[in-house]
Amino acid sequence: MPKIGLVGFGKIGQALASQILERGNQVVAVDIDPSIKDSLQDGRFETSEPGVGPVIVESFEAGRLSLHTEFAALSHCSAIIICVPLFVRDAQRGAGTIDFQPFDRCFASLADVVHNRILLSLETTVPIGTCRNRITRIFDRHGKAHGKDYLLAFSPERIMSNTMREQLLSNPKIVSGLTPEALDEVLAVYRSFFACGSRQTSLLYRNCRDDQALGNGLERCESWTG
Ligand SMILES: NC(=O)c1ccc[n+]([C@@H]2O[C@H](COP(=O)([O-])OP(=O)(O)OC[C@H]3O[C@@H](n4cnc5c(N)ncnc54)[C@H](O)[C@@H]3O)[C@@H](O)[C@H]2O)c1
Repeated sequence: MPKIGLVGFGKIGQALASQILERGNQVVAVDIDPSIKDSLQDGRFETSEPGVGPVIVESFEAGRLSLHTEFAALSHCSAIIICVPLFVRDAQRGAGTIDFQPFDRCFASLADVVHNRILLSLETTVPIGTCRNRITRIFDRHGKAHGKDYLLAFSPERIMSNTMREQLLSNPKIVSGLTPEALDEVLAVYRSFFACGSRQTSLLYRNCRDDQALGNGLERCESWTG
């Protein structure tokens, strides 16, 4: 049974986990907050997301979902999905600054476990260039190389609170890869548990922005990327 790692077991992590578990996978989740595991162990686990709670509880009890605070638990996973938050200071004043420290620490910890071109897929909303210019440099500093030790992909935010499971089934996930190899890998992994279509992007843009030219351009790109 494929073992999928998840870093950050909050609202989005739990919704993604429930979908992945329902497709017959095992999930190994890492969260710095030990109270989530405690709540599952003593029957207090709660979520307001419809359709998520029962899958999480049943899978935990059946041993198909495990929770950890240490990143070493991820070392035997076939892919790792990252859903940790990015904190913004003083956002209410309009010109907030991003505190990357907790985010960077998470990738520094991941650097100790990546090997053999494991897929890492980032679900956190991040500034443009974060994968290429920030995350790869963290791995470089730890002696881990893209294409050899890991493959990096990004799946931007498409679902919102309160109907996450429903949206995961109805909204095609959009994915990108740092290299064509990373894109192939994320498509293969995500297609096994999500409605996943990079080819839907053009339709999405046409619908959202009423921009036929942009939609046509994207459609051409999608026919290259599959
Ligand atoms: N891809 C999508 O469709 C999508 C949808 C919604 C939200 N998001 C993104 O997901 C992120 C998380 O959202 P959420 O609603 O799940 O937040 P949340 O606050 O409910 O959960 C975040 C979890 O991450 C844990 N965490 C924080 N730092 C960590 C670290 N260094 N290592 C391990 N665990 C850590 C926290 O303890 C918490 O349990 C948001 O920042 C948002 O950008 C993506």
